Amino acid sequence: MAGCGGGGGSADTVSGIAAPAPSELSAAAELGKAIFADTSLSEPGGMSCQTCHQPDKGHATNDVVQTGVVTGHAGTRNAPSIGYLKYSPNFAYTDDGPTGGFFRDGRAMTFTAQAREPFVNPDEMANPDAASVVAKVKAAAYADRFKAVWGSGVFDDVQNAYDKITVSLAAYEREEAGFAPFTSKFDYWRSGKASLTDRELQGLALFNDPQKGNCAACHPSTGPDARTPPLFTDFTYDNLGLPRNPAIPANADPDYFDLGLCGPVRTDISDPTLCGAFKVPTLRNIALTAPYFHNGVIATLRDVVRFYVTRDTSPELWYPVGAGGEVRKYDDLPARYHGNVNVTEVPYDRPLGGTPALDDDEIDQVVEFLRTLTDGYQP
Ligand code: HEC
Ligand code: HEC
Repeated sequence: MAGCGGGGGSADTVSGIAAPAPSELSAAAELGKAIFADTSLSEPGGMSCQTCHQPDKGHATNDVVQTGVVTGHAGTRNAPSIGYLKYSPNFAYTDDGPTGGFFRDGRAMTFTAQAREPFVNPDEMANPDAASVVAKVKAAAYADRFKAVWGSGVFDDVQNAYDKITVSLAAYEREEAGFAPFTSKFDYWRSGKASLTDRELQGLALFNDPQKGNCAACHPSTGPDARTPPLFTDFTYDNLGLPRNPAIPANADPDYFDLGLCGPVRTDISDPTLCGAFKVPTLRNIALTAPYFHNGVIATLRDVVRFYVTRDTSPELWYPVGAGGEVRKYDDLPARYHGNVNVTEVPYDRPLGGTPALDDDEIDQVVEFLRTLTDGYQP
């Protein structure tokens, strides 16, 4: 797995992070901040970017599936945290395969490309087109500032104005220190300003141990050098064979499958071995962002860790069991893609009925460690 932040194309690098300073936003980022929280930018009004990416929820929400602004419309994915994303490389193929990009399937190459989608997604903010979003910004209290920053004629050309809305949002998501403060207990421990309990340290050791949790193989707990804080993601993609979540309305159709990199939302990848792979998310602020995984199927952090270590030893805990006692493993993937599920890396190398890589107390220790990744700790 690649070192985090190493991929191509990102405008930011992790190196050189200083202690978090109070945000000093550029004029464009100040506009982005206003747009991010503006509930008039949905149709009907009432929903903003912040509705689903709340600062006190690790920049995610606690809803399994996000309900759109229009009654009866719901998305198909659990909202991820958008914290620390400014360190994400843009989408690219590397030696580790597909890496980086925005959304859980990486389909948006950049922050600005990402920001084009929610406003006009019928299951989210539901505007009919870019022109209606631009008309709303033109009528907003900050319209004069928008013209001051982007030119007095900016509203004359819809595509140009829509581009500037996304550029403003991207500037905010990059510049606002609150999106990447590095103020967790873990960060203060790294810089010698706080101590972790014995159990938290033991949890970290299990998280790192290639024979135990092996979590750090995909969620690195060290940066590329000692000075650089880790992001707990290497931005690669993997297939965990998660259980299907009946709470997602689209899953009422037995022929509907969310296959991540290979569709149906993303449409430009046809390599069948990538079907079912989703991006490795950061684990920073993970205690705040339940439920978990792309389909929100796991409700608690403890169950996430339990799932990792018992998926293969006791699959009946996670998947439907038929009348004859047969377990329908990987029931959220068509059978032809079951071979794509990661079954070789620890902790996935245990046989049916075998001993899980972590026992109950070790699972608790890993969870205690994960809770040290919440920002806003007072040392
Ligand atoms: C109705 C809830 C909702 C609203 C409103 C919403 N988002 Fe999201 N956001 C999501 C979900 C769900 C995903 C994951 C979607 C996917 O993977 O296809 C996501 C993904 C993202 C990502 C990519 C995260 C990653 O890990 O790559 C960013 C950045 C983001 N949203 C920013 C925004 C911005 C900016 C707005 C406003 C223009 C916005 N969101 C509005 C629910 C929402
Ligand atoms: C082989 C790579 C790999 C390993 C090893 C791994 N993870 Fe993950 N992790 C992922 C991927 C990929 C996802 C996203 C999967 C999805 O949503 O479909 C993920 C998601 C998660 C999430 C949910 C994040 C969210 O925002 O919903 C948590 C929590 C997590 N992992 C913790 C761990 C822990 C703890 C370990 C060790 C026991 C671990 N992971 C080991 C690849 C890995």
